[in-house]
Amino acid sequence: MYEPRVNPPQRDRWALYLAPDRADGRNDAVLRRRDRDGGQEDRQGGAGNGPTLEDSPHEDPFNWSLTTGTTVGRALISAAQRLGETSGETARLDSQVLLAHVLKQNRSWLFAHHEHELSEGDCRRYADLITRRRRREPVAYLLGRQAFYGLEFGVDRRVLIPRPETELLVDLVLAQVSDRAGRQVVVADVGTGSGAIAITVAMHAPEAKVYGIDISRDALDVAEENKRRLTPDGGPKFLEGDLLSPLPEPADVIVANLPYIADEEYSGLQSDVRDYEPRVALKAGAEGLDLIERLLQQLPNRVQARGAVLLEISPRQGEMVQRMAQELRPKPSYVGLRRDYSGQVRMITLEY
Ligand SMILES: C[S@@+](CC[C@H](N)C(=O)[O-])C[C@H]1O[C@@H](n2cnc3c(N)ncnc32)[C@H](O)[C@@H]1O
Repeated sequence: MYEPRVNPPQRDRWALYLAPDRADGRNDAVLRRRDRDGGQEDRQGGAGNGPTLEDSPHEDPFNWSLTTGTTVGRALISAAQRLGETSGETARLDSQVLLAHVLKQNRSWLFAHHEHELSEGDCRRYADLITRRRRREPVAYLLGRQAFYGLEFGVDRRVLIPRPETELLVDLVLAQVSDRAGRQVVVADVGTGSGAIAITVAMHAPEAKVYGIDISRDALDVAEENKRRLTPDGGPKFLEGDLLSPLPEPADVIVANLPYIADEEYSGLQSDVRDYEPRVALKAGAEGLDLIERLLQQLPNRVQARGAVLLEISPRQGEMVQRMAQELRPKPSYVGLRRDYSGQVRMITLEY
């Protein structure tokens, strides 16, 4: 049993992704003007002599290119400077991760090979990635992968990028599965996206029968690709449809990280999220509760006797979802909120 621990108001997880008013006070118009006027301060690549790093004369203010033969060290300095204009505090890390990706090396290799000269193809690929990152495309989409619970999931714009805070949901599911040791446990992951939760649970609890459900065919295609790579000999069964409606049998454990952004919050999200991640994975009506509320209403007959339901929620929704859960009929024997590892109310557990 988890003790309910609520301490509203909480900072919303998505507050992390709310657009700051450009931390450095610049905006696209300024960048555009600066590029048009020459952008002199780092047009020479940031430091020293040697091959030049050039902004494209193209209209697009985010375009950036490198001259063949530029060294790793100079490429990193210049890319980080350019990224600093649009992606702020992660600029240096992003520039390193992306160059390591282009060169098929790890980041420490870069530091030991500052004088290594980039080929024409390396320059082109790196410039393309930096230009896209300057337009705020998430690094996970640029790399085509995201680590989750120690596994590597393929991701692209068809799916939400799995977030580290969701790993707690996996811990809670695995605890529920191990509480039922000795019999086959049915787990349903609703709104499976890349399949991160369903596949991770299937890998760590191969005795469980795991379903992953999503309304988006595109998302399920990505989940299937991840399943083929990560659990080639088994893994979850993916089903297309609305919430619990495609589930062929009652589940012992229902887990869901459904969309929970309120309509009003959506336009204020950072452009990395709002302009790139699927809207169907984020938006959930006026209060952000449309999907969660409907899922709760679908529970009768779809959750086993003594089953459990584990939902990721926004910290600001804790009390509201708790009240909804307590009003359900049949009434769950336990309803409790749970904080994530950063201290935010993040999950709600219902036990029957
Ligand atoms: C916030 S994402 C979570 C993805 C993944 N579970 C994760 O944690 O990374 C929500 C997912 O719910 C799906 N979804 C939205 N509405 C749905 C519905 N009515 N029924 C089933 N899935 C839905 C979206 O397509 C999206 O993949």
